Amino acid sequence: MMAGRFQDRVAIVTGSSGGIGGSTAALFAEGGAKVVLTDRSIEYLDKVVQRCLDAGATCENILTVTADVTVPDDMKNLHGREDYGALQPGGIMQTTVDDIDAVMTTNLKSAFILTQLCLPHLIASHGCIVNVSSLAGYAPAPTFLAYSMSKAALNQMTKSIALELAQKGVRVNAVNPSAVLTELLTNPRGPIGGDDPAKIDEYIQKVCTAHPIGRMGLVHEVSDVIGFLASDQSSFVTGQCLPVDGGRHATMWGCMPSSTEPINEISI
Ligand SMILES: NC(=O)c1ccc[n+]([C@@H]2O[C@H](COP(=O)([O-])OP(=O)(O)OC[C@H]3O[C@@H](n4cnc5c(N)ncnc54)[C@H](O)[C@@H]3O)[C@@H](O)[C@H]2O)c1
Repeated sequence: MMAGRFQDRVAIVTGSSGGIGGSTAALFAEGGAKVVLTDRSIEYLDKVVQRCLDAGATCENILTVTADVTVPDDMKNLHGREDYGALQPGGIMQTTVDDIDAVMTTNLKSAFILTQLCLPHLIASHGCIVNVSSLAGYAPAPTFLAYSMSKAALNQMTKSIALELAQKGVRVNAVNPSAVLTELLTNPRGPIGGDDPAKIDEYIQKVCTAHPIGRMGLVHEVSDVIGFLASDQSSFVTGQCLPVDGGRHATMWGCMPSSTEPINEISI
């Protein structure tokens, strides 16, 4: 059998029971990595274990760790709470200091702590980090103040640590997805506010027009980019925060051009 592109590597995937995390875990498993699957509940993790087995991993190449990324002692075990701290709704009039603390802890401090804990291993193995940020770290999602702040900070942390570790052979990058249909959006406090198909459909119609490609992203379209940034194919890429967003970051007006007709008549 041909060796996969992540053969003999170890990949720690946080939030691995989630939409993007699950797809990423399966991608690493398929590439031959030893995967450390971590999330806040074992019942969710069981499903992603099966996905990794289906993708070709063997049982001895899968380690599951139930861990809450907001609890530093849990993070040490890597090497729930039923809330949705990551995507806290609210602008300046609604957001409390506690909300800011919760979101920063989930989205930023967790990545900081895990990076510090993994540092000796990363340096010894010339490993790499791919943080999952958001397009909201580039341009704020107006009614998600704390979330946007946390992802902007995660972008800066990515670039800053990339500079610091470049000469030690450790690359640090981030992906910045736009809207991808996962529980992050459909949980009761997410922008869709539930999994009612009518509500989901209405949201999809609205948000599609904000993406020049004309649709939302799919989880594998994010995990494929994570895989690229984690692989040797991107060996000269570091400090990058890469939008995976169907072109949305480039739209100053937040919408597609009004006409998508071919412009054959223009000659250069
Ligand atoms: N879905 C999108 O539209 C979108 C857009 C931009 C960025 N993102 C980012 O992508 C990442 C993954 O999101 P997703 O869309 O796959 O969401 P998801 O809700 O499907 O997955 C998130 C996973 O993280 C786990 N998790 C949450 N809090 C945790 C904690 N304290 N400790 C341990 N695990 C915890 C959840 O159990 C879940 O399995 C997030 O960082 C999110 O901000 C998502």
